[in-house]
Amino acid sequence: MEHAQSSLEHPLVERLLGLMDRKHHWAYPALTRPGLNRDQLLVHFRHEYLVYVRDFPVLLARALGNVPPVDEVRRALAANLYEEQTGGVSKTGPHPDLFITMMNGLGFSRSDFADDEVWLHPDARAYRDFLFRESAVAPWQSAVALLTIFVEGSANERAELAGTYVRRRGEDAVLQHPLVQFYGCPPDAMVLRRAHAEVEGDHRKDAWSMVLSNAIPESRVEAQIYAVCDEALVFWLRYRDGVAQRMGLTR
Ligand SMILES: [Fe+2]
Repeated sequence: MEHAQSSLEHPLVERLLGLMDRKHHWAYPALTRPGLNRDQLLVHFRHEYLVYVRDFPVLLARALGNVPPVDEVRRALAANLYEEQTGGVSKTGPHPDLFITMMNGLGFSRSDFADDEVWLHPDARAYRDFLFRESAVAPWQSAVALLTIFVEGSANERAELAGTYVRRRGEDAVLQHPLVQFYGCPPDAMVLRRAHAEVEGDHRKDAWSMVLSNAIPESRVEAQIYAVCDEALVFWLRYRDGVAQRMGLTR
């Protein structure tokens, strides 16, 4: 999708980036260095899988289901959905399956990630419920922003847009990954990482383009996009607090 540079001057960009700057959790550094035990790793990854990895393609489909005939948005969402559910663009596989492959590399089995409503931290369930609800609520622009900017994006969003942060690609992306470096995951099991390195750059551009091209400054839609992402951040921080607590991590 064509990504007009001028659209980054949209007032919503700075507001959303300010929000993405805060999509950082104090327990994150523990995940990028050695020291976690097996149980702690499983608590973290099982939550990630059940909260948004397993169902991300379906969340995208829910949002797509409410998009009016704005062709470039339907196309971009469909392409994202196709990649997430099949790996057809990156010639890999369904991303939820690739996640399980990565977990196999850590020595966990698929059954370790079986659904368990009782097991999930209540704040994890609350965030998941929020994502399911809001992905199908009007206006479609806020659902799309929630999934493609907030969920798929990270605290690196500002630097990525500015071009000062470039994701590692190919073998480099795999070998530098903490799971490979510190937790014994064989590089072969990191196909998910490869798939993301392959397609994510385009998805980031599409995400901003879809939202900005369809949000008139100071409109009600613009306010709703921000409000939903702002609420997502609150749910997400509580979710991460809950997982950190389950992992026995303290500030
Ligand atoms: Fe993905």
